[in-house]
Amino acid sequence: MYRTHTCGELVAKDSGKAVVLCGWVDTRRDHGSLTFIDLRDRYGLTQVVLNPEKAEGAHEAAKRVRREFVVKVSGKVRARPKGTENASWKTGAIEVEADSLEVIAVALPLPIEFSDKAQSSEESKLTYRYLDLRGLDLQANIIARHRITKIVRDFYSENGFLDIETPILAKSTPEGARDYLVPSRVHPGRFYALPQSPQIFKQLLMVAGFDRYMQVARCFRDEDLRADRQPEFTQIDVEMSFVDEEDVMQLHEKLMHRIFSEFMGVKLKLPFPRLTYDEAVARYGIDRPDTRFGLELFDLTGILSRSDFNVFKAVVKDGGVIKCVTVPGKGGFSRGELSELEGFVKIYKAKGLASLRVSGGKLDGQTAKFIPDALAKELLKCAGAKDNDMVLIVAGPAKVVNDSLGFLRNHLAEKLGLIGKGEWNFLWVTSFPMFEWSEEEQKLNAMHHPFTSPKIEDLPLIEKEPLKIRAKAYDLVLNGIEIGGGSIRIHSPEVQSRVFSALGISEQSAREKFGFMLDAFKYGAPPHGGLAFGLDRLVMLLVGAPSIREVIAFPKNKAAVSLMDGSPSPVDEKQLKELRLKADAAK
Ligand code: AMO
Repeated sequence: MYRTHTCGELVAKDSGKAVVLCGWVDTRRDHGSLTFIDLRDRYGLTQVVLNPEKAEGAHEAAKRVRREFVVKVSGKVRARPKGTENASWKTGAIEVEADSLEVIAVALPLPIEFSDKAQSSEESKLTYRYLDLRGLDLQANIIARHRITKIVRDFYSENGFLDIETPILAKSTPEGARDYLVPSRVHPGRFYALPQSPQIFKQLLMVAGFDRYMQVARCFRDEDLRADRQPEFTQIDVEMSFVDEEDVMQLHEKLMHRIFSEFMGVKLKLPFPRLTYDEAVARYGIDRPDTRFGLELFDLTGILSRSDFNVFKAVVKDGGVIKCVTVPGKGGFSRGELSELEGFVKIYKAKGLASLRVSGGKLDGQTAKFIPDALAKELLKCAGAKDNDMVLIVAGPAKVVNDSLGFLRNHLAEKLGLIGKGEWNFLWVTSFPMFEWSEEEQKLNAMHHPFTSPKIEDLPLIEKEPLKIRAKAYDLVLNGIEIGGGSIRIHSPEVQSRVFSALGISEQSAREKFGFMLDAFKYGAPPHGGLAFGLDRLVMLLVGAPSIREVIAFPKNKAAVSLMDGSPSPVDEKQLKELRLKADAAK
């Protein structure tokens, strides 16, 4: 037997016990003739004392021990002398007086620092990820992930869901990102695609009659990375038969309630608020608003189209809009601050940011002279602006105005410290448009995916006015981050083919891509729907990590590279030959 206890479990009532501990040497301190070692494992730290008068051999061995050596210590537990207890450790009331110490493995000096105050570069920490993971903060995140996943699995199991695995080597699924492809050796020139999500398979499981499916599913998407995106990530993936939107949403409010109650000790208020997509964009500019603070957007198009400012008039003539955010009590923003905010909205393609200061019930600022008093009054009322407030205005195409003010809102809240700690604001966003117009491709795309059901009452518009069609789709937003999304699916072959044709997917191409699925729907498909949560994002929010990299054991960096194992990497010529592939490494 290697050990009798872990480094995180001995307490005062264990005093007198003979124990054997194994772990890593966190620190070694020499105090006069005594040597102290803080021994660490996943469970915690235990102080070991080595006294040359009691165990000379062990004391000598301890002198040769360095940080991160793996050692085995046998000894006796005793209460720490009064005044030397450490309340921040679970084992802080005791120490182990060693009678033997054995070095199990030596360690070179570490190339990175993994303690809380770690100063090592992100690059070296990812290169030596297995060392970085020794840090208690990262370990706590990974353990939290395990606990949350366990709560999730228990919840679904108790509610009649079956955990069913779906293929990783599969045919491309249409979630909108690029696929990772895997060449087939046996069928040269053919490829599997790694799943962007188990979407098609979970729908086929409903056709097969499994009724309630869940999976903690790995998904792969070749897309630009951000703090909340990784090329491979994990979804809590769910599908249910004989349900409508409300059934799916209500069940998942209960799941969130359970996670927050068991993991965070927080009781959430149900039901969560709901906003339609149109309302969300009108009031907050974006479809995943952070509702922990105000700073709502107001539409000034009608008012400012009547001003004398040619820029505003031209925008409205071109079909654009004019909206504002009112920042309470910030009439005193300096010129520097305003120009920083203008720089910020330009990232989202805004041409500029007009600012109006309110003082003595009047507007002040460069644009104010173009706004006659009567209009100014209307504007103040519409923007809810009072003395010493600052009204920040963007004019332009609706998407540009909404995006720039929507993200400016978040930026201002951060900058002005308007976000309270410990607030958990959930929001369902519903009634998404079924389609969106892609300027780049000059065609309609599905906003969620092409298997999402349109609202039945909107269906007659599909051929003539497809952009007016709303989908039975919903997203769950937590503190401004989209943590999940799903929809009720199309289960009628006739509706599916109308959606494909609106998307410009010919019958032939639909058959080539999803023929097996269309066939399946001909053999008795139940009405069904579901959703998927981003597990990484959820855990990131729950543990308060700044990026999903902090809650994934072995993440990729921003360039989709694993610095630890060096993937993606070149492969042998022989492997390529077998696959009948040629690598073109030219940049
Ligand atoms: P969707 O594409 O909205 O829906 O994805 C669901 C959730 O997965 C998370 N997510 C990601 N997390 C980390 N890195 C990424 N690259 C990434 N991409 C997405 C998000 C998102 O809300 N099949 C549908 C679900 C359904 O309709 O049932 C789907 O995949 O939190």
